[in-house]
Amino acid sequence: MGLFSKKGTADTNYLGVDIGGSSIKLVELTNNNGRAQLVTYGYLERSLSGEGSKLIDQPEKTAEMIKKVLERSKVITKRAITALPAPAVFSSIISLSEISKKDLASPKKVTAAVEWEAKKVLPLPLEEMILDWKVIGNEDILKEDKGAKGDGAKIKNLQVLLTGAAKEVVQKYIQIFKKAGLDLISLETESFALARSMVGKDKSVVVLVDIGAVGTDISVVENAIPLLNRSLGVGGLSITNEISKTLNISIEQAEQFKRDLASNPEALGEGKTLPEIIERPIQSIIDEIEYTKNFYLEQPDNKGKKIERIVLSGGTASLFNLSEYFTDKLGIRSFIGNPWARIIYPQDLEPILESIGPRLATSIGLAMRDIE
Ligand SMILES: Nc1ncnc2c1ncn2[C@@H]1O[C@H](COP(=O)(O)OP(=O)(O)OP(=O)(O)O)[C@@H](O)[C@H]1O
Ligand SMILES: [Mg+2]
Repeated sequence: MGLFSKKGTADTNYLGVDIGGSSIKLVELTNNNGRAQLVTYGYLERSLSGEGSKLIDQPEKTAEMIKKVLERSKVITKRAITALPAPAVFSSIISLSEISKKDLASPKKVTAAVEWEAKKVLPLPLEEMILDWKVIGNEDILKEDKGAKGDGAKIKNLQVLLTGAAKEVVQKYIQIFKKAGLDLISLETESFALARSMVGKDKSVVVLVDIGAVGTDISVVENAIPLLNRSLGVGGLSITNEISKTLNISIEQAEQFKRDLASNPEALGEGKTLPEIIERPIQSIIDEIEYTKNFYLEQPDNKGKKIERIVLSGGTASLFNLSEYFTDKLGIRSFIGNPWARIIYPQDLEPILESIGPRLATSIGLAMRDIE
C-alpha cells in the first residue's frame, strides 16, 4: 500500500530505507527476472543517549546519516522507498454500503465513497491527510454476493482497508530524502513492508511483532494484508533502562548485559527463560499482543479463525530466549522471521545476513515492493 508512488524508470534496483528510533537501515535489491536479489545493505546506529528529538524532526542530520550509509554500503540506485513509522499511520477498516459493481471500475466514484466514510473516522481533517485504501477480498465478495445481479446492483458492505498519514509528516520524509540526494519513489507503511518480507503470499492469520528500540508494533496479517495495527512505546530501550536501574549500572553496561545474555547463564536464574528484571517490560508487550489477538478474533467476521503463528522482527527480537518465552506465555508458536527467505544472496553471507535479518526486515520489505 503506497501513500504515494511514482512510475518506474529503466533502473531495476530499489533501495528500502528504514528510519528507526535508534538507527537507519537500508537494503538495495535488484530485480533478477522477477526475483529479488541482494545488491548491498547497511546501517548506522545513533548514540545510546538518544540525543533528544526524533530523527524525523532533524532533517539535516538524518539526511547526513543516510548519505553516510549510502557511501559506506556503495549503494548504486537513487530510487528509494521508505516507510512511515506505525504510530504515525492511521489505519482502519471501513465499510462502503452504497457502491455498485459498475462503480468499482471507476476510481473517481470509489474515491468519493471512501472519502465520505473516511471523514467520519479520520483523526484530522481530510485536507490535511494523504489517504490510501485497498478493497479487502473484493473478488470473493463479488462472487458470493448472489443477491447483486447486474452491474448496477449494489454490493452490500464492501470492506476497505483505509490508511492515512498527516501531510505534514509525509512532507518531512520528502524533505529528508531530497537532502540525501535520493529519489523517493514511494512511501508506505511499516506494516505493509513487514508483511511482504515476513509473510509473503501466505494466506493464514499471522501476528507480526516488531520490537525495535523505542517501540513495539503489532499487526494482525491475513491474506498478506496487515488488517489490524497497534503500537506501544515499549522496546529495547525500556529493557536496557530497566536493567540499568535495577542493577545500578550505566546504560552502556546494561545494553551490553542485555546483548550478552546468551553467554551469561547466571543472569537467568534457575529454570528461567528470561531474567526476572526484564520480565516487566516484556510482560507489557505480551499483554498488548494478547489484547490485539483477542480484539481481532472477537470481530464478527473473524469467528472461528485461528492465529497460526507469531513472527518476531526488530533488533529486540534477538533478545536471548524471547521467542521461546512468547511461545510459552501466549500459547502460540512464536519465532524470529526470516526476511531473506525469498531473496537471492551469496551463500557465504548467510551467517551474517541471518543475524542482521530481524533488524532489516522492514528495509527488505520496502525494497521488494516493486519487484514481486
Ligand atoms: N542481541 C540483542 N539482544 C537484545 N537486544 C538487541 C540485540 N541486538 C540489538 N538489540 C536491540 O535492538 C534495538 C534496535 O532495534 P531496531 O534497529 O529494530 O530499532 P529501531 O528500528 O531503530 O527502533 P524503532 O523500531 O523502535 O523505531 C535496540 O534497543 C538494541 O538494544
Ligand atoms: Mg524499527
